[in-house]
Amino acid sequence: MTYKIAVVAGDGIGPEVIDEGLKVLHCVAEMQGFNFETKDYPWGAEHYLKTGETHPESAYSEYREMDAILLGAIGDPRIEVGLLEREIIAGIRFTLDLFVNLRPIKCLADHICPIKDKKASDIDMIVVSENTEGAYSQVGGIFKKNTQDEVAIAEMIYTRRGVERVIRYAFEIAKDRPRKHLTLCDKANAIRPQDLWTRVFALVAKEYPQVTTDHAYIDAACMWMIKNPEAFDTVVTTNLFGDIITDLGSVLQGGMGVAASGNINPDGVSMFEPIHGSAPKYKGQNKANPIATIAAVSMLLRQVGEIEASEKIDAAVEHLIVSKEIPDLSSRSGIKTTEIGDLVCKTLKN
Ligand code: IPM
Ligand code: MN
Repeated sequence: MTYKIAVVAGDGIGPEVIDEGLKVLHCVAEMQGFNFETKDYPWGAEHYLKTGETHPESAYSEYREMDAILLGAIGDPRIEVGLLEREIIAGIRFTLDLFVNLRPIKCLADHICPIKDKKASDIDMIVVSENTEGAYSQVGGIFKKNTQDEVAIAEMIYTRRGVERVIRYAFEIAKDRPRKHLTLCDKANAIRPQDLWTRVFALVAKEYPQVTTDHAYIDAACMWMIKNPEAFDTVVTTNLFGDIITDLGSVLQGGMGVAASGNINPDGVSMFEPIHGSAPKYKGQNKANPIATIAAVSMLLRQVGEIEASEKIDAAVEHLIVSKEIPDLSSRSGIKTTEIGDLVCKTLKN
């Protein structure tokens, strides 16, 4: 079996963490006896500055022929705020209809658990966010810009189809997890149209009697995630809220250096990426933690069906964190980006 993987290394620390992700992919492929081919795409700030192009349409038909996309990070302070992020990250999510954003939040060792009186085992949840509509739909704009009468409008769009498919996906995830518990997080008290989520959630729940359900307003969910993280198993929420609570969640699992995500289209090609950004200040210093990207590679392998390879990567990363061979998960630790990739490969082989 040869998997075809599109690689968008991107900006800042993106290329460095991608190199380590691919290093680990290479090791695990050799062990498990599968092959992969990568095709690099240059999208990001340098390419934009050189050519004026953010992300060409033509790449989409190429991605569709592949098994997965691996993305490093996008964003550069020299470029208009959010232009590259919208056109590349959100562009790929929307165009390929990657309607699920899957973000596991699992704390692997007690010594990295940041909450007093909680243990690693109290933090094991997975956030399923809607990924193609909501507040990121780009519907809206600015009227009478730079005048006293300026009006800024950003719509939140929720479609019945969009809400239902992501809720159904979340129930499917929840039913396969040991605790089988799903929490809907919204703000349907203040944003009344989110009542669509409440109603669809209740309807779909009837098809999953084995899954227990729960609800939390998003503000309270932020509080509970710190106060009682063990209350959460699977969470389903909107695009914007999911983006926010998973940064919070990243800290529960050791920081942005370890948090991975999958942008999933269950019937098509999916994209995997660390949830951190391009961190321009760490670029080229061999300091960034590549574990998030390595974990994204593990998620990619799980999605294409290489479950054993994925489990082996997860076990290696867990071992390195538990044993403190990787003592510090922040980019300020002394350990180098490339050393972490080497350590994961060495652990895989043992
Ligand atoms: C992320 C990012 C993106 C998001 C932005 C850049 C569109 O913050 O992947 O978490 O909000 O989803
Ligand atoms: Mn984010």
